[in-house]
Amino acid sequence: MSRLTVFLAALIALTIGTAGVLFVMLPGEDAGFPQRSSGAALIGGPFELVQHDGKPVTNETFNGELMLIYFGFTFCPDVCPTELQIMSTALDLVGEDAAQVRPILISIDPERDTVGVMAQYVAHFHPRMTGLTGTPEQIAAAARAYRIYYQRVEDPSSNAAYTMDHSSIVYLMDKEGQFITHFGPGTQPEKMAETIRTALGNG
Ligand code: NI
Repeated sequence: MSRLTVFLAALIALTIGTAGVLFVMLPGEDAGFPQRSSGAALIGGPFELVQHDGKPVTNETFNGELMLIYFGFTFCPDVCPTELQIMSTALDLVGEDAAQVRPILISIDPERDTVGVMAQYVAHFHPRMTGLTGTPEQIAAAARAYRIYYQRVEDPSSNAAYTMDHSSIVYLMDKEGQFITHFGPGTQPEKMAETIRTALGNG
């Protein structure tokens, strides 16, 4: 390799490395929020769903509270209950100020997740945990707004007949419903609690 080749190779590696860092930083878990990059603003938006007590709700119902939103389903064997438990533990760690935070499970399995099923399910988690379901169209619209992928998968070996593949992301939205940050699977509850406290201005 000539010197020039080595130099060019190093330059290319550096460029790719920098692009990688920028890409990782953009969605912004540790990027020092609140920063609403144009990417972040694409997460969230209006929704119309039905709360686990049967009341119709919209995104505006929760204005004035931070929303901690997770999309999942009650038949999920492990991932969803784990994430909902992390959210619940984080809110316990936040303490009194958790009264300003609304933890929300939005079902991506409306066929099975009726209002009654949701009510029973969310009761296993935090007292503030709010279950939302709706028509398949309402769910699809909400999932689109939050960039959530979900897909029914037939599973004849199981009594449940089918399962759901889905993205597993916890979103933190501000008191006007604007995106603040997101948490990947298996986030430590302490880390989530710290981020929530910062978002509440008590960090
Ligand atoms: Ni799940």
